[in-house]
Amino acid sequence: MSRQEGWLEDSNRYVAQTYARLPICLIRGEGSYVWDSEGHKYLDLVMGIGVNGLGHCHPRVVAAIREQAGKLLHVSNLYHIEPQIQLAKVLCQISFADRAFFCNSGGEANEACIKLARKYAKDSGHPDRYEIITMEGSFHGRTLATLTATAQSKYPKGFEPLPEGFKYVPFSDLKAVEAAVSSKTIAVMLEPIQALGGVNVPADDFLPGLRKLCDEKGLLLILDEVFTGFGRTGTMFCYQRYGIEPDIMALAKALAGGLPVGAMLAKEKVAQSFGPGTHAATFGGNPLVASVGVEVMKVIQEENLVAHSEQIGSYFMGRLKDLQKKYGFIKEVRGKGLLIGVELEFPGKEIDVRCQEKGLLINSLGDKVLRIIPALNVKREEIDQAVTVLDEVLGGMGK
Ligand SMILES: Cc1ncc(COP(=O)(O)O)c(C=O)c1O
Repeated sequence: MSRQEGWLEDSNRYVAQTYARLPICLIRGEGSYVWDSEGHKYLDLVMGIGVNGLGHCHPRVVAAIREQAGKLLHVSNLYHIEPQIQLAKVLCQISFADRAFFCNSGGEANEACIKLARKYAKDSGHPDRYEIITMEGSFHGRTLATLTATAQSKYPKGFEPLPEGFKYVPFSDLKAVEAAVSSKTIAVMLEPIQALGGVNVPADDFLPGLRKLCDEKGLLLILDEVFTGFGRTGTMFCYQRYGIEPDIMALAKALAGGLPVGAMLAKEKVAQSFGPGTHAATFGGNPLVASVGVEVMKVIQEENLVAHSEQIGSYFMGRLKDLQKKYGFIKEVRGKGLLIGVELEFPGKEIDVRCQEKGLLINSLGDKVLRIIPALNVKREEIDQAVTVLDEVLGGMGK
């Protein structure tokens, strides 16, 4: 039995079987590449589902972890934490927000958004308003509230009873949102581009229209930028592309270069509803994670990765559109920056497997969309390499 076969056997025996995993065990990474325990090298277009924005083991991320690990790993939020203060400050400086709350994941960040919206309604004299309108095809997390906010029936199935207070409308349909608003509505919550739902990009006027509607009806606009944040879609935050600002925003994934992190950002008038004792997270914004987050923000800015994401993303999209001309079963190539979806006429699982055999990691979503999520610093040669493999694999489909 090979070393890898041994790992897979123990994985299947001891690890909870909540993921359908490819049969490889990854043990090392550098830049856009990872290696498995048999020494095979892969070009990684999954990047930890958007977590490794700077690629694998960016030297400045590794150095920041080493430095902070020798200084202070964790203290309670009962004390002020220097790197946490710095991270909150930089996040507020680069976004619409006045304050940041830290937690450990995207689900937790969204949970905090939901709780803050409800608390704000109570504090502003609307004890009967608690309803949040969310979008079909969304994904907000796996906690009970966030999987209820996630308007896809397969996720909450079996976990009922679910929390009350969510209403669903089709994505990018302003009239449907307007029709769904009731005297109980407090907020509209959505991803500006739906990542897991199939890389769904809204009509250009949807987010501006939504902002206007929220202002007219006195609703909060909550954006889940867990996936789309930090340059992924070619602007630092995706909302900036649409010329609007939310009231509350959830962040996670790429914020700390691979360490578990989540953050909820809010404007002052709303953030005030989270006073001492209202909400907390033991590990949230601890010295290690926060110091790495500060370094990640510096790298993104100093290496000009937001502009790179936009430019190299359109090069990648162009190369994929060339493949679309060649293969009639590619229905659409869509996305922004380096969040790209390739919609097929059939489920793409077989493509994942064949790409992996040829040294390319790609992640297809159940509903026939290949999702492409390179590192923000991906090079043109790496994109060309990926397109060559994809071309070979697509050319062999059905054979
Ligand atoms: C948009 C969005 N929100 C929330 C989440 C949940 O994040 P986590 O798995 O860190 O809880 C995800 C995860 O993929 C996501 O893509």
